[in-house]
Amino acid sequence: MRVLVCGGAGYVGSHTVRQLHRAGYEVVVLDNLIKGHIKAIGRTAFIHASINDKAAVARVFVEHQINAVMHFADSSRVGECVASPDIYCRNDVVGTLNLLEAMRKTKVNYFIFSSTAAVYGEPMEIPITENHATVPRNPYGSSKLAVESLLQWFSQAYGLMYTSLRYFNAAGADPAGDLGEDHEPETHLIARVLNTALGPGPGPEIKIFGTDHPTPDGTCIRDYVHVNDLADAHILALERLVSGGDAGIYNLGSGSGFSVRKVITTAEKVVGRPVKVVEDHRRPGDPAVLVASSAKAAKELGWKPKYDNLEQIIGTAWKWRQANPKGYAK
Ligand code: UFG
Repeated sequence: MRVLVCGGAGYVGSHTVRQLHRAGYEVVVLDNLIKGHIKAIGRTAFIHASINDKAAVARVFVEHQINAVMHFADSSRVGECVASPDIYCRNDVVGTLNLLEAMRKTKVNYFIFSSTAAVYGEPMEIPITENHATVPRNPYGSSKLAVESLLQWFSQAYGLMYTSLRYFNAAGADPAGDLGEDHEPETHLIARVLNTALGPGPGPEIKIFGTDHPTPDGTCIRDYVHVNDLADAHILALERLVSGGDAGIYNLGSGSGFSVRKVITTAEKVVGRPVKVVEDHRRPGDPAVLVASSAKAAKELGWKPKYDNLEQIIGTAWKWRQANPKGYAK
């Protein structure tokens, strides 16, 4: 089976490409390399194009025998999407529409979509299940939700078989140490703490965004899930569709929440030295607690995260960071 991985040179995409290879799939990556890294996909067949290039997208399906699509191509910076919602909508909604139209024309019917916990907005109950209200608080969550809605309509009208996977906080790196997180700028907590520990990080210290949240230690709680576990969920989702399973939406998280302080102290333990910490103001729009219920993914996909403790997750990220202090640009 040959899988087209859109955004396959990005963080979660590239780990999924590797897991697909390990599981014996043929893979073709399509990526515009604006944020992705060509080094992250090794010798995988590669098409340098954007999902916004409708003609290029259509050509991929005519020229390659694609059987299924996994779609990671987006720009997941919440700050940027608030500043430029037009660009976000074009990338996420119009780009996805290009893919879906090309799939329909060439009768490719399996689609796995990379969605986000941001579709829920401010949580009303924890843990968050898939039935929780979806009230996104930024255009990033809104455009992902719009795509999920499109998928449902394509499924109803044209029989598209799809799965949407709502990630909580992706973290960690492939244990081989040659594949990992490399964003510019880096905004994610674990990567920033490790960058600070190794230097040059976001600064000489790590800032905690808010110490007055309604949580036991006053800092935000998040559900960190290993990137390879996310990748494996995509493969399980595809296998389920291929064996006749229904379209569906699933949360992907570890089910455990860790505060910002806990992440920092765990990272200090992993790296073996203290990291300088500064308390800062809350980051606008940050919910205090985001923890997933992944019971549905466990039950229907048979998904069980292999990395079930924070130290192990941070350990893999640290291995990557130490081996690649400048990320892919070494
Ligand atoms: N944080 C800090 N200091 C930093 C960076 C982050 O205190 O230097 C805090 C944030 O305020 C937040 C927590 O650490 O409380 C985690 O922040 P991240 O930026 O790592 O992740 P988010 O939870 O903000 O965002 C993640 C994904 C987004 C997605 C969102 C869905 O990275 O792409 O979950 O809710 F949209």
